[in-house]
Amino acid sequence: MRAVVIGGGTSGRAIGAAIAARGWVVQLSSRRTGLDVLRDDVVAALTGADVVVEATGRFTTSRRRATDFFVRSTTAIGSAAAVVGARHVLLSIVGCERPEVQGYGYFAGKAAQERAALTTGTPLTVVRSTQWHEFAEQNAERFRIGRLALVPEMSIAPVALTAVAAVVADVVSGDRAERRVEVAGPERTTLLEMTRALPGPGVRALSLRLPGRFGRAFRDGALLPGAATEVVGPSFDEWVADRSRR
Ligand SMILES: NC(=O)c1ccc[n+]([C@@H]2O[C@H](COP(=O)([O-])OP(=O)(O)OC[C@H]3O[C@@H](n4cnc5c(N)ncnc54)[C@H](OP(=O)(O)O)[C@@H]3O)[C@@H](O)[C@H]2O)c1
Repeated sequence: MRAVVIGGGTSGRAIGAAIAARGWVVQLSSRRTGLDVLRDDVVAALTGADVVVEATGRFTTSRRRATDFFVRSTTAIGSAAAVVGARHVLLSIVGCERPEVQGYGYFAGKAAQERAALTTGTPLTVVRSTQWHEFAEQNAERFRIGRLALVPEMSIAPVALTAVAAVVADVVSGDRAERRVEVAGPERTTLLEMTRALPGPGVRALSLRLPGRFGRAFRDGALLPGAATEVVGPSFDEWVADRSRR
């Protein structure tokens, strides 16, 4: 069986490894390997695939740019999957559709992506997770000024990317057949606490109070999972300790 994982970033590599560990042939594709889903022939890239995992991303806080990228990406991938007869697995974020966070352009884009993915006519599973343990580093890189990192105030229940990747691999292999899966980590914390707990000399984390309704919603827990969300370990502290031992 063959899976194509589109997006060779943080998640694409982890998901590719988890699927390969189940004995599948995995192809990681992104612009670096010659596939731009916004411009190139995605049908050709998916030929022979049983499943395509969409793990593309483009960070922006602009609602227009995020919506344009995510809707075009998922439409191209889902439509191509329908042509070749592959299933479509889309990575998304717990809470991205909540009305109170739509003022944050990135989440408006992810919510629009989920809606668009449903319209392409291919069997779709949306795997939503909370922010990954890796998100503290991703954010510190994105909002870094010299040795200072600006860290938005947000309450989250972070989850290990390896655990999310294992769930995606279960969906890909057919061990799970749900149309929507939601996973979160075992503990609630803040992005600031996570950033400060990162090992190594790193950066100095400065708290950033985001404005408006979505800023308040981030602080008040709009990104926290609901009671039905599956909880998967390890905790952030266990993950940091494990990384420090390596
Ligand atoms: N970070 C989190 O905590 C988190 C939590 C839940 C869900 N998610 C979602 O998971 C997805 C992946 O996130 P990530 O952090 O792994 O992203 P990432 O590290 O930024 O990687 C995204 C990948 O997308 C590829 N890409 C961008 N534009 C492309 C295009 N036009 N055609 C083909 N590939 C393209 C890039 O590879 P090239 O540069 O080689 O094209 C890049 O490696 C995102 O949709 C994100 O919203 C993230």
